[in-house]
Amino acid sequence: MNNSPLLKKAYEFAKEARLRAHAPYSEFKVGCCLKLRNSDELIVGCNVENASYGLTTCAERTAIFKAIAERGTIDPEYLVVVTDADPPAPPCGPCLQVMAEFCQPHCEIYLANLKGIQEKLLFKELLPKPFHLKFWSI
Ligand code: THU
Repeated sequence: MNNSPLLKKAYEFAKEARLRAHAPYSEFKVGCCLKLRNSDELIVGCNVENASYGLTTCAERTAIFKAIAERGTIDPEYLVVVTDADPPAPPCGPCLQVMAEFCQPHCEIYLANLKGIQEKLLFKELLPKPFHLKFWSI
């Protein structure tokens, strides 16, 4: 597993972002931290629920959309996702489809819980056949 100090920092940032989740309905708090390739910048997200349940945004999408809003284009190197689940929870299907828009197949997804990072997967392992309207050109 990638043992870099930045990955440890990303895990801590995701764990802190999890505590800011707005999850009064499910009480399932999720934090995410996104690391961009060729940059040390870390961008966090948490899940934001709504009384109209379907309007909920997951932690992963919050982080990705924040990154797009700040940068316009992104090339994520890895994402760390933290929940209190054991074994740790992977990103949901809709988040994987959003990742398909912005992540390369070898983007790393670290599944973590309060004990630490438990598993490293590649995006292509979680979603081997993403729906695309174009081929990758970056
Ligand atoms: N959730 C995430 O934030 N990320 C996922 O990949 C799966 C689910 C959130 C949505 C909702 O607020 C709560 O977890 C329970 O589904």
